Amino acid sequence: MARREAVAPLPGSLDDLRAQAAGCTRCPLHGPATQVVFGEGPVDSDLMIVGEQPGDQEDLAGRPFVGPAGAVFDAEANAAGLDRSRVYVTNAVKHFKFTARGKRRIHQRPDAGEVEHCRWWLDLERQMVAPRLIVAMGATACASLTGSGAGLLKRRGGIEAAADGTPVLVTIHPSYILRVPDPTAQAEARAQLRSDLVAARDWLA
Ligand code: URA
Repeated sequence: MARREAVAPLPGSLDDLRAQAAGCTRCPLHGPATQVVFGEGPVDSDLMIVGEQPGDQEDLAGRPFVGPAGAVFDAEANAAGLDRSRVYVTNAVKHFKFTARGKRRIHQRPDAGEVEHCRWWLDLERQMVAPRLIVAMGATACASLTGSGAGLLKRRGGIEAAADGTPVLVTIHPSYILRVPDPTAQAEARAQLRSDLVAARDWLA
């Protein structure tokens, strides 16, 4: 299927885009979620980081990467010498998808249709921020940005391209790291994320 970019006239500012997205009903995920979790960071960032979707804590806080996966991202970005306040951080999907289990809300991976609907907002964010480099963390971000769902671990560390040609550095998702049960393997996965973030920093230098 041909991939089409969002072609709406760009809003005057990122805040206008955020306000438009806040009322999004493009897919059913808006129903159960608390709110849209839009990207945050300077509009003139050279680097855009894209994750999958907000988790439980992000859904409540209205900010991306503030829960456990965010703590991993912050630690590794810091170790890689990246200043989060100078990076635009967002997600491929802006609403939290979950199933309720008692009082807990369990993360559900967004399906291809949900990712495609939400690409509308990601395309517009990318067009407005116009980063020099995007880091795609995990399979969902990678598929949304590059159009390819090929295995992530084989692509990790490589640089691909978004629909408009913006370079996309592929890496693993912080939540994946948290799910690795073996401590040694988990430390290795953390080191991989860190080295990809170092590569992003060096690429931009
Ligand atoms: N996982 C993501 O992909 N994004 C977040 O904002 C939090 C967890």
